[in-house]
Amino acid sequence: AIDLAGRHFLKELDFTAEEFRGLVELAAELKGAKKSGTETQRLRGKNIALIFEKTSTRTRCAFEVAAADQGASTTYLDPSGSQMGHKESVKDTARVLGRMFDGIEYRGDSQAAVEELAAHGGVPVFNGLTDDWHPTQMLADVLTMTEHSDKPLERIAFAYLGDARFNMGNSYLVTGALLGMDVRIVAPKAYWPAEGVVAEARRLAGASGATITLTEDVAEGVRGADFVATDVWVSMGEPKEVWAERIAALAPYAVTMDVLRATGNAGVKFLHCLPAYHDLGTEVARGIEADHGLTELEVTDEVFESAHSVVFDEAENRMHTIKAVLVATMASTAAEG
Ligand code: CP
Ligand code: NVA
Repeated sequence: AIDLAGRHFLKELDFTAEEFRGLVELAAELKGAKKSGTETQRLRGKNIALIFEKTSTRTRCAFEVAAADQGASTTYLDPSGSQMGHKESVKDTARVLGRMFDGIEYRGDSQAAVEELAAHGGVPVFNGLTDDWHPTQMLADVLTMTEHSDKPLERIAFAYLGDARFNMGNSYLVTGALLGMDVRIVAPKAYWPAEGVVAEARRLAGASGATITLTEDVAEGVRGADFVATDVWVSMGEPKEVWAERIAALAPYAVTMDVLRATGNAGVKFLHCLPAYHDLGTEVARGIEADHGLTELEVTDEVFESAHSVVFDEAENRMHTIKAVLVATMASTAAEG
Protein backbone atom coordinates (compact mmCIF):
# COMPACT_ATOMS: atom_id res chain seq x y z
CA ALA A 1 0.00 0.00 0.00
CA ILE A 2 1.12 3.53 -0.71
CA ASP A 3 2.72 5.43 2.15
CA LEU A 4 3.40 9.12 1.70
CA ALA A 5 3.67 9.85 5.42
CA GLY A 6 4.44 13.49 6.09
CA ARG A 7 4.46 14.45 2.39
CA HIS A 8 2.74 17.52 0.96
CA PHE A 9 0.34 17.40 -1.99
CA LEU A 10 1.13 20.62 -3.85
CA LYS A 11 1.44 19.75 -7.53
CA GLU A 12 1.60 16.71 -9.79
CA LEU A 13 5.26 17.34 -10.64
CA ASP A 14 6.25 16.41 -7.06
CA PHE A 15 5.14 12.80 -7.55
CA THR A 16 6.37 9.78 -9.46
CA ALA A 17 3.94 7.97 -11.73
CA GLU A 18 4.01 5.10 -9.25
CA GLU A 19 3.06 7.37 -6.34
CA PHE A 20 0.29 9.02 -8.33
CA ARG A 21 -1.11 5.65 -9.42
CA GLY A 22 -0.80 4.43 -5.84
CA LEU A 23 -3.02 7.27 -4.64
CA VAL A 24 -5.63 6.47 -7.30
CA GLU A 25 -5.54 2.79 -6.32
CA LEU A 26 -5.91 3.67 -2.63
CA ALA A 27 -8.88 5.89 -3.53
CA ALA A 28 -10.53 2.99 -5.36
CA GLU A 29 -10.01 0.78 -2.30
CA LEU A 30 -11.42 3.43 0.04
CA LYS A 31 -14.39 3.92 -2.28
CA GLY A 32 -15.09 0.18 -2.26
CA ALA A 33 -14.78 0.05 1.52
CA LYS A 34 -17.17 2.96 2.00
CA LYS A 35 -19.73 1.43 -0.36
CA SER A 36 -19.56 -1.95 1.35
CA GLY A 37 -19.59 -0.51 4.87
CA THR A 38 -16.15 -1.86 5.73
CA GLU A 39 -14.16 1.38 5.92
CA THR A 40 -11.73 1.54 8.82
CA GLN A 41 -10.82 4.87 10.38
CA ARG A 42 -7.14 5.66 10.15
CA LEU A 43 -7.24 9.37 11.00
CA ARG A 44 -8.85 9.30 14.44
CA GLY A 45 -7.76 12.24 16.56
CA LYS A 46 -6.31 14.17 13.61
CA ASN A 47 -7.28 17.79 12.96
CA ILE A 48 -7.20 19.42 9.54
CA ALA A 49 -7.38 23.16 8.72
CA LEU A 50 -9.17 24.09 5.49
CA ILE A 51 -8.16 27.53 4.21
CA PHE A 52 -10.38 28.76 1.38
CA GLU A 53 -9.54 32.16 -0.08
CA LYS A 54 -11.90 31.34 -2.96
CA THR A 55 -15.31 29.69 -2.91
CA SER A 56 -15.81 25.94 -3.31
CA THR A 57 -18.51 23.30 -3.27
CA ARG A 58 -16.75 20.04 -4.19
CA THR A 59 -13.30 20.53 -2.70
CA ARG A 60 -14.48 21.79 0.66
CA CYS A 61 -17.15 19.11 1.00
CA ALA A 62 -14.75 16.41 -0.17
CA PHE A 63 -12.22 17.33 2.52
CA GLU A 64 -14.88 17.57 5.23
CA VAL A 65 -16.62 14.28 4.39
CA ALA A 66 -13.36 12.42 3.80
CA ALA A 67 -12.00 13.61 7.15
CA ALA A 68 -15.23 12.73 8.99
CA ASP A 69 -15.34 9.25 7.43
CA GLN A 70 -11.80 8.66 8.65
CA GLY A 71 -12.43 10.01 12.16
CA ALA A 72 -10.62 13.36 11.74
CA SER A 73 -12.03 16.81 12.43
CA THR A 74 -11.84 19.89 10.18
CA THR A 75 -11.87 23.64 10.75
CA TYR A 76 -13.05 25.71 7.78
CA LEU A 77 -11.54 29.16 7.33
CA ASP A 78 -13.45 31.12 4.70
CA PRO A 79 -12.08 34.00 2.60
CA SER A 80 -12.85 36.48 5.39
CA GLY A 81 -12.37 34.09 8.29
CA SER A 82 -8.65 34.23 8.91
CA GLN A 83 -5.97 36.85 9.31
CA MET A 84 -3.79 35.31 6.62
CA GLY A 85 -2.78 37.67 3.88
CA HIS A 86 -4.57 40.62 5.51
CA LYS A 87 -3.14 41.01 8.97
CA GLU A 88 -0.70 38.13 9.13
CA SER A 89 1.86 36.67 6.75
CA VAL A 90 1.49 33.24 5.19
CA LYS A 91 4.68 32.19 6.97
CA ASP A 92 3.38 33.11 10.44
CA THR A 93 0.00 31.56 9.68
CA ALA A 94 1.76 28.34 8.70
CA ARG A 95 3.71 28.26 11.95
CA VAL A 96 0.58 28.85 14.03
CA LEU A 97 -1.65 26.33 12.24
CA GLY A 98 1.16 23.78 12.23
CA ARG A 99 1.15 23.86 16.05
CA MET A 100 -2.55 23.00 16.20
CA PHE A 101 -3.33 20.92 13.14
CA ASP A 102 -2.02 17.70 11.62
CA GLY A 103 -2.65 18.86 8.05
CA ILE A 104 -3.55 22.08 6.19
CA GLU A 105 -5.52 22.49 2.96
CA TYR A 106 -5.19 25.72 0.99
CA ARG A 107 -7.19 27.14 -1.93
CA GLY A 108 -6.28 30.53 -3.36
CA ASP A 109 -4.65 32.25 -6.34
CA SER A 110 -1.10 31.72 -5.43
CA GLN A 111 0.96 28.55 -5.82
CA ALA A 112 3.70 30.43 -3.95
CA ALA A 113 1.38 30.74 -0.93
CA VAL A 114 0.65 27.02 -0.73
CA GLU A 115 4.37 26.30 -1.14
CA GLU A 116 5.12 28.81 1.65
CA LEU A 117 2.60 27.13 3.96
CA ALA A 118 4.28 23.81 3.20
CA ALA A 119 7.74 25.23 3.87
CA HIS A 120 6.83 26.54 7.33
CA GLY A 121 3.85 24.54 8.64
CA GLY A 122 5.70 21.42 9.67
CA VAL A 123 2.68 19.28 8.69
CA PRO A 124 1.37 17.99 5.34
CA VAL A 125 -0.13 20.77 3.17
CA PHE A 126 -2.65 20.05 0.42
CA ASN A 127 -3.31 22.21 -2.65
CA GLY A 128 -7.08 22.61 -3.02
CA LEU A 129 -6.64 24.71 -6.23
CA THR A 130 -4.31 27.53 -7.19
CA ASP A 131 -4.05 29.47 -10.43
CA ASP A 132 -1.32 27.05 -11.53
CA TRP A 133 -2.48 23.57 -10.53
CA HIS A 134 -5.49 21.52 -9.39
CA PRO A 135 -3.80 18.28 -8.33
CA THR A 136 -6.58 16.76 -6.20
CA GLN A 137 -8.89 17.18 -9.20
CA MET A 138 -6.45 15.14 -11.30
CA LEU A 139 -6.66 12.19 -8.92
CA ALA A 140 -10.45 12.26 -9.28
CA ASP A 141 -10.27 12.54 -13.05
CA VAL A 142 -7.81 9.67 -13.38
CA LEU A 143 -9.92 7.48 -11.06
CA THR A 144 -12.98 8.34 -13.17
CA MET A 145 -11.12 7.48 -16.38
CA THR A 146 -10.05 4.10 -15.00
CA GLU A 147 -13.65 3.39 -13.99
CA HIS A 148 -15.02 4.31 -17.42
CA SER A 149 -12.44 2.63 -19.62
CA ASP A 150 -11.34 -0.97 -20.09
CA LYS A 151 -7.92 0.21 -21.25
CA PRO A 152 -4.83 0.57 -19.10
CA LEU A 153 -4.04 4.23 -18.44
CA GLU A 154 -1.17 4.34 -20.90
CA ARG A 155 -3.54 3.44 -23.72
CA ILE A 156 -6.17 6.05 -22.83
CA ALA A 157 -6.42 9.17 -25.01
CA PHE A 158 -7.99 12.33 -23.68
CA ALA A 159 -8.46 15.80 -25.11
CA TYR A 160 -8.87 18.99 -23.12
CA LEU A 161 -10.61 21.84 -24.95
CA GLY A 162 -10.66 25.44 -23.74
CA ASP A 163 -8.45 27.79 -21.77
CA ALA A 164 -5.38 25.65 -21.14
CA ARG A 165 -3.14 28.33 -19.62
CA PHE A 166 -4.59 27.90 -16.18
CA ASN A 167 -4.92 25.29 -13.42
CA MET A 168 -6.95 22.66 -15.30
CA GLY A 169 -5.04 22.82 -18.59
CA ASN A 170 -1.67 22.73 -16.83
CA SER A 171 -2.69 19.87 -14.58
CA TYR A 172 -4.16 17.77 -17.40
CA LEU A 173 -1.05 18.17 -19.54
CA VAL A 174 1.38 17.27 -16.78
CA THR A 175 -0.75 14.43 -15.38
CA GLY A 176 -1.21 12.83 -18.78
CA ALA A 177 2.52 13.14 -19.42
CA LEU A 178 3.41 11.69 -16.01
CA LEU A 179 1.15 8.67 -16.45
CA GLY A 180 2.14 7.87 -20.02
CA MET A 181 -1.21 8.78 -21.53
CA ASP A 182 -2.14 10.19 -24.95
CA VAL A 183 -2.95 13.77 -23.95
CA ARG A 184 -4.15 16.45 -26.32
CA ILE A 185 -4.52 20.15 -25.57
CA VAL A 186 -6.98 21.63 -28.05
CA ALA A 187 -7.13 25.43 -27.96
CA PRO A 188 -6.04 28.55 -29.82
CA LYS A 189 -2.27 28.85 -29.47
CA ALA A 190 -2.60 31.88 -27.19
CA TYR A 191 -4.45 29.63 -24.72
CA TRP A 192 -1.90 26.80 -24.59
CA PRO A 193 -0.01 26.17 -21.34
CA ALA A 194 3.13 28.23 -20.76
CA GLU A 195 6.41 27.09 -22.35
CA GLY A 196 7.78 25.96 -18.99
CA VAL A 197 4.80 23.70 -18.33
CA VAL A 198 5.01 22.21 -21.83
CA ALA A 199 8.75 21.62 -21.32
CA GLU A 200 8.10 19.77 -18.04
CA ALA A 201 5.41 17.70 -19.75
CA ARG A 202 7.78 16.79 -22.60
CA ARG A 203 10.44 15.79 -20.10
CA LEU A 204 7.97 13.52 -18.28
CA ALA A 205 6.69 12.11 -21.57
CA GLY A 206 10.24 11.11 -22.48
CA ALA A 207 10.31 8.87 -19.41
CA SER A 208 6.69 7.64 -19.46
CA GLY A 209 6.10 7.13 -23.18
CA ALA A 210 3.22 9.63 -23.15
CA THR A 211 2.10 11.24 -26.39
CA ILE A 212 1.65 15.00 -26.13
CA THR A 213 -0.28 16.96 -28.71
CA LEU A 214 -0.98 20.70 -28.69
CA THR A 215 -3.23 21.72 -31.52
CA GLU A 216 -5.63 24.43 -32.62
CA ASP A 217 -7.55 21.93 -34.76
CA VAL A 218 -10.56 20.44 -32.96
CA ALA A 219 -11.11 17.54 -35.39
CA GLU A 220 -7.45 16.50 -35.21
CA GLY A 221 -7.29 17.00 -31.47
CA VAL A 222 -10.26 14.85 -30.53
CA ARG A 223 -9.89 12.06 -33.13
CA GLY A 224 -9.83 8.71 -31.35
CA ALA A 225 -10.18 10.26 -27.88
CA ASP A 226 -11.65 8.14 -25.08
CA PHE A 227 -12.40 11.23 -22.98
CA VAL A 228 -13.13 14.85 -23.85
CA ALA A 229 -12.74 17.39 -21.06
CA THR A 230 -13.28 21.10 -20.65
CA ASP A 231 -13.45 23.80 -17.97
CA VAL A 232 -15.03 27.20 -17.55
CA TRP A 233 -13.71 29.86 -19.95
CA VAL A 234 -13.32 32.42 -17.17
CA SER A 235 -11.86 31.23 -13.88
CA MET A 236 -12.39 32.44 -10.34
CA GLY A 237 -10.67 35.73 -9.69
CA GLU A 238 -10.76 36.91 -13.31
CA PRO A 239 -12.68 40.10 -14.11
CA LYS A 240 -16.00 40.03 -15.94
CA GLU A 241 -14.42 42.07 -18.72
CA VAL A 242 -12.49 39.09 -20.10
CA TRP A 243 -15.67 37.25 -21.10
CA ALA A 244 -15.96 38.97 -24.49
CA GLU A 245 -12.41 38.06 -25.53
CA ARG A 246 -12.75 34.53 -24.12
CA ILE A 247 -16.02 33.86 -25.93
CA ALA A 248 -14.59 35.14 -29.20
CA ALA A 249 -11.51 32.95 -28.90
CA LEU A 250 -12.97 29.80 -27.36
CA ALA A 251 -16.46 29.46 -28.88
CA PRO A 252 -15.09 27.11 -31.60
CA TYR A 253 -13.78 24.89 -28.79
CA ALA A 254 -17.10 24.40 -27.01
CA VAL A 255 -17.87 20.73 -26.41
CA THR A 256 -20.90 19.97 -28.57
CA MET A 257 -22.34 16.68 -29.84
CA ASP A 258 -20.45 17.35 -33.10
CA VAL A 259 -17.19 17.42 -31.16
CA LEU A 260 -18.02 14.11 -29.49
CA ARG A 261 -18.91 12.62 -32.89
CA ALA A 262 -15.59 13.86 -34.30
CA THR A 263 -13.81 11.53 -31.87
CA GLY A 264 -15.13 8.63 -33.97
CA ASN A 265 -15.67 6.85 -30.67
CA ALA A 266 -19.32 6.08 -29.89
CA GLY A 267 -18.38 5.35 -26.27
CA VAL A 268 -16.50 8.63 -25.69
CA LYS A 269 -17.00 10.11 -22.23
CA PHE A 270 -17.22 13.76 -21.19
CA LEU A 271 -15.40 15.20 -18.15
CA HIS A 272 -15.74 18.60 -16.46
CA CYS A 273 -14.31 19.48 -13.06
CA LEU A 274 -17.39 21.66 -12.43
CA PRO A 275 -18.88 24.13 -11.82
CA ALA A 276 -20.08 24.31 -15.46
CA TYR A 277 -22.08 26.99 -17.26
CA HIS A 278 -24.32 24.86 -19.43
CA ASP A 279 -27.71 26.31 -18.60
CA LEU A 280 -29.29 29.48 -17.35
CA GLY A 281 -29.69 28.28 -13.81
CA THR A 282 -26.94 30.48 -12.46
CA GLU A 283 -26.38 34.15 -11.91
CA VAL A 284 -23.20 34.09 -14.00
CA ALA A 285 -24.87 32.34 -16.93
CA ARG A 286 -27.79 34.79 -16.90
CA GLY A 287 -25.29 37.64 -16.95
CA ILE A 288 -23.50 36.13 -19.94
CA GLU A 289 -26.77 35.79 -21.81
CA ALA A 290 -27.69 39.39 -21.07
CA ASP A 291 -24.25 40.70 -22.13
CA HIS A 292 -23.32 38.34 -24.97
CA GLY A 293 -26.53 36.65 -26.13
CA LEU A 294 -25.17 33.16 -25.48
CA THR A 295 -27.10 30.50 -23.63
CA GLU A 296 -24.39 27.83 -23.72
CA LEU A 297 -20.69 28.21 -23.14
CA GLU A 298 -17.92 25.62 -22.76
CA VAL A 299 -20.30 22.66 -23.05
CA THR A 300 -23.80 22.31 -24.42
CA ASP A 301 -26.64 21.19 -22.22
CA GLU A 302 -27.12 18.26 -24.63
CA VAL A 303 -23.60 16.92 -23.99
CA PHE A 304 -23.72 17.64 -20.27
CA GLU A 305 -26.97 15.73 -19.82
CA SER A 306 -26.09 12.92 -22.24
CA ALA A 307 -25.03 9.35 -21.49
CA HIS A 308 -21.49 10.43 -22.46
CA SER A 309 -21.26 12.65 -19.41
CA VAL A 310 -19.55 11.21 -16.32
CA VAL A 311 -19.23 14.52 -14.48
CA PHE A 312 -21.09 13.43 -11.37
CA ASP A 313 -18.97 10.29 -10.97
CA GLU A 314 -16.01 12.64 -11.34
CA ALA A 315 -17.44 14.95 -8.65
CA GLU A 316 -18.07 12.04 -6.27
CA ASN A 317 -14.53 10.84 -6.85
CA ARG A 318 -13.18 14.10 -5.46
CA MET A 319 -14.14 12.78 -2.03
CA HIS A 320 -12.63 9.31 -2.40
CA THR A 321 -9.39 10.65 -3.87
CA ILE A 322 -8.97 13.43 -1.32
CA LYS A 323 -9.53 10.78 1.35
CA ALA A 324 -6.68 8.80 -0.20
CA VAL A 325 -4.39 11.83 0.03
CA LEU A 326 -5.29 12.38 3.68
CA VAL A 327 -4.79 8.71 4.59
CA ALA A 328 -1.54 8.33 2.64
CA THR A 329 0.04 11.46 4.12
CA MET A 330 -1.43 11.63 7.64
CA ALA A 331 -2.28 8.15 8.91
CA SER A 332 0.26 6.99 11.45
CA THR A 333 1.71 3.62 10.53
CA ALA A 334 0.95 2.37 14.04
CA ALA A 335 -2.78 2.87 13.42
CA GLU A 336 -2.76 0.52 10.44
CA GLY A 337 -4.60 -2.72 11.09
N1 CP B 1 -13.97 21.13 -9.14
C1 CP B 1 -13.83 21.90 -8.03
O1 CP B 1 -12.73 22.14 -7.54
O2 CP B 1 -15.00 22.37 -7.54
P1 CP B 1 -15.20 23.41 -6.34
O3 CP B 1 -14.70 24.74 -6.86
O4 CP B 1 -16.66 23.40 -6.06
O5 CP B 1 -14.37 22.96 -5.17
N1 NVA C 1 -10.42 26.92 -13.67
C1 NVA C 1 -11.42 26.94 -12.63
C2 NVA C 1 -11.46 25.62 -11.92
C3 NVA C 1 -12.47 25.55 -10.81
C4 NVA C 1 -12.47 24.24 -10.09
C5 NVA C 1 -11.11 28.09 -11.69
O1 NVA C 1 -9.95 28.29 -11.37
O2 NVA C 1 -12.04 28.80 -11.31
